[in-house]
Amino acid sequence: MAKLEGQLSHHGASTGKYEAHELRDGDKKRYGGKGVLNAVRNINDVIAPEIEGINVLNQTEIDEVMIELDGTENKSKIGANAILGVSMAVSKAAACNLEIPLFEYLGGISGRNIPTPMMNILNGGKHADNNVNIQEFMIVPSTNDFIKEKIRMCSEIYWNLKQILKSNNYATSVGDEGGFAPNLKNDEEALDLLVEAINTSGYKDDFSIALDVAASEMYQDGEYNFWKTKNVRTTDEMIEYYAKLVQKYPIISIEDGLSEDDMEGWTKLTKTLGDKIQLVGDDLFTTNVNRLMEGINNKAANSILIKPNQIGTITETIDAIRYAKCHGYNVIVSHRSGETEDSYIADLSVGLNAKYIKAGAPTRSERTAKYNRLIRIEEYM
Ligand code: PGA
Ligand code: ZN
Repeated sequence: MAKLEGQLSHHGASTGKYEAHELRDGDKKRYGGKGVLNAVRNINDVIAPEIEGINVLNQTEIDEVMIELDGTENKSKIGANAILGVSMAVSKAAACNLEIPLFEYLGGISGRNIPTPMMNILNGGKHADNNVNIQEFMIVPSTNDFIKEKIRMCSEIYWNLKQILKSNNYATSVGDEGGFAPNLKNDEEALDLLVEAINTSGYKDDFSIALDVAASEMYQDGEYNFWKTKNVRTTDEMIEYYAKLVQKYPIISIEDGLSEDDMEGWTKLTKTLGDKIQLVGDDLFTTNVNRLMEGINNKAANSILIKPNQIGTITETIDAIRYAKCHGYNVIVSHRSGETEDSYIADLSVGLNAKYIKAGAPTRSERTAKYNRLIRIEEYM
């Protein structure tokens, strides 16, 4: 087996505390401690000898061997980054071996839905050095167009937003996911700007808005600290705040509106807004079937964000998607704030028929790689 020499890996700036463990070297002299030589060594010396000889089509068996080999709850011994790297490579090799595209391998004949982008065009929270608290402001097309048309419309709105920001003397530098990161009067102004950009682009009736609050980052002593503007809200006040925003703006989805540790609050939030909009659990579920089960039992959220590196194998990722669907939860496949040009999640989203995909702004190659892959898949179909 060829040896892996090294790899620039990806991770998120707002990582949930129940995510699988990403193994970093901690050697401050290399990449400020973020090096992955140990993870690479684990692939070559620990995983490879155990899986060599297993048929590459046996994804579940290979993933199980790695899970057992690691033996910890959160894959902290071998590293979820090492395990996921192998898990993804195995599925890609299997698709190659069968001479079919990855999405077809992952989904079989039923994997045929091109997801709608939830495109993040204005960044705040931990993803930007500005004064906006909410992490992601996304635009979502509601038309039945082909993906290439949806991406074009999103892109037009993005560039019109840049013009609007410029004409208001706001900065047009970007945050971690390529969305603009201006200093604004308050978070609601971001929503006003999105609405203006949608309207001036001529898509008033064709677009809605989605938010990712990333509220786990705000949660302190049972309250929500909007640390950039120094105001604090209780769980009930958060729910009231969202109810008002949903009334005033065309919002169809709120992700991580409450903390990963505020399950009681999630139940209340879902009771209040769950029949009107998507309530998406990201840090809340961490692509983990057990956490999702707990959420379903508590009637918390109605949708799940899927990030393979939150859980660490493709088998477990697919399990989480299937389980969510069985229980009527919407599925949104997602990138991370730290990303590479790898477009695996585009194939995953199509193969598993996700309703939406989050892949960031329509700029910078680590974001556009996913959109371009979706366009290629659509052409292939
Ligand atoms: P992260 O952000 O990759 O920094 O976790 C993405 C998200 O919260 O959806
Ligand atoms: Zn999120």
